[in-house]
This record gives sequence, C-alpha cells and structure tokens, in this order.
Amino acid sequence: MTRIEIAPSILSADFTCLEREVKKAQDAGADRLHCDIMDGNFVPNITFGPLVVEAVRRCVTIPLDVHLMIIDPMRYVNDFCNAGASTLIVHAEVCDVPAVASAIRKNNVRPGVSVNPDKPASLFLPHLRDIDMVLVMTVFAGFGGQKFMPEMLDKIALVRAESVKRNLTTDIAVDGGINDKTGEECAAAGANVLVAGSYIFGHEDFEARIATLRAASLRGRERLGHEV
Ligand code: DX5
Ligand code: ZN
Repeated sequence: MTRIEIAPSILSADFTCLEREVKKAQDAGADRLHCDIMDGNFVPNITFGPLVVEAVRRCVTIPLDVHLMIIDPMRYVNDFCNAGASTLIVHAEVCDVPAVASAIRKNNVRPGVSVNPDKPASLFLPHLRDIDMVLVMTVFAGFGGQKFMPEMLDKIALVRAESVKRNLTTDIAVDGGINDKTGEECAAAGANVLVAGSYIFGHEDFEARIATLRAASLRGRERLGHEV
C-alpha cells in the first residue's frame, strides 16, 4: 500500500520570504513540496520557472514535485529536471505521454501526469506503467484557493482501481481545494498524496494543519481499507 504523504503547494506561500516558508513547511512535517509552474498560455496565470525551483531545492531536502501547467512541456523537461525536480508532472492534454515520460526518466526523475477535471483518465491510463505519479486535478488548473470538485472522487477511484488491477504502486495525488474534509474523501477514494496550498500556507501553524490533514487522510485510508 502506498504511503500517505502531505505536499504543501508553495503557490500560497509568502514569496517575500520563500526560504523561511519552505523550511518551515519541511520542519512542520511536510513529506514533499509542490511547485506550480504556469505559463500564461495553458492557464491564464503566470508563476515562476526553473530558477525558483532551483532556489527551493537548495533550501530543503524533501522531494520536490514540479507541476507543469505549460503548453509545451517537452521543451522544458531538461531545465526542470536540472533544477532539482524529484517528480516532473505534465498535463496529458498537451503532450505525448510516453515520449515525455521517457524523456523525464532519462534524467533520473520520476514522471508524473495530470489532467484537468473536464478531461478523461483515458488520456493517460494506457501508459500507467510508465508513470510514477498521477495528479488528479480537483479544481481547474490555474489558481490556488478554489473550491474542491466532488465529482473528481470517481476519477480518483478509477485510477486507483486500474493501478491495483495492474499491480502498480503509482502515487495518486490530488490537487485543488484540499482540506481536512475533502482530503479524507480523496484518501477514501484511493489518493495517497494530498497537495494543499491555502489550507497550509494560509495559516500560521503549519504543523497543526499538516497533522490535521494527515489524520484526516489516515481516516480516509481506513475507510478505503474496509472497502477493498
Ligand atoms: C492549482 C494548483 C494547485 C494550487 C492548489 O492550479 O495546481 O497546486 O496550489 O491550491 P489550493 O490548495 O489553495 O486549492
Ligand atoms: Zn499543482
């Protein structure tokens, strides 16, 4: 059974003191950090590039999951791998999944794949064996602080069922609107990595938030355990 992990998304961090924020998240028990890259094309928003990922890499030792919300991910695979990504997540809507996954793996980085809520899991399910992390978007990619879409629980369950059927250990991550309530539901549906931006960075006490989220996801995992 895959390990439950909490991945704060630095999109909601205070960028005037990013070093302090990411170290505080690590010290508070974060298992991984999530970095959102937006290009103003695939999504309307623009965030940051490999330079900031490389700076974060030097501040913490936990793995970095880099979520590329950009139109031509293949073009930037080497840049983000060299910047220190541990998992590089691309959107299946805009790329040839096996080709990009193989380019990522050549850099000794874990390939990840995501899709927006209106796109089917069939865009990547045939390639599940080549992918180390599926990131199920539980809001439309683009902004932090949006409301969780409960309709996505079925997509999480579908990915998990396929992964179990094929005897894989793919990480199933969820991203968008995650808090203690939605996080528990996602874990009960089969997610094992909870990405959370505003729920963690929007509050002073990161440790309490991470602990609450972990407890919620373990409750969800219990429920999953009873169902399988
Ligand atoms: C949204 C990003 C998320 C974002 C989540 O496009 O991919 O990672 O940071 O933010 P919250 O947790 O505030 O919904
Ligand atoms: Zn993200």
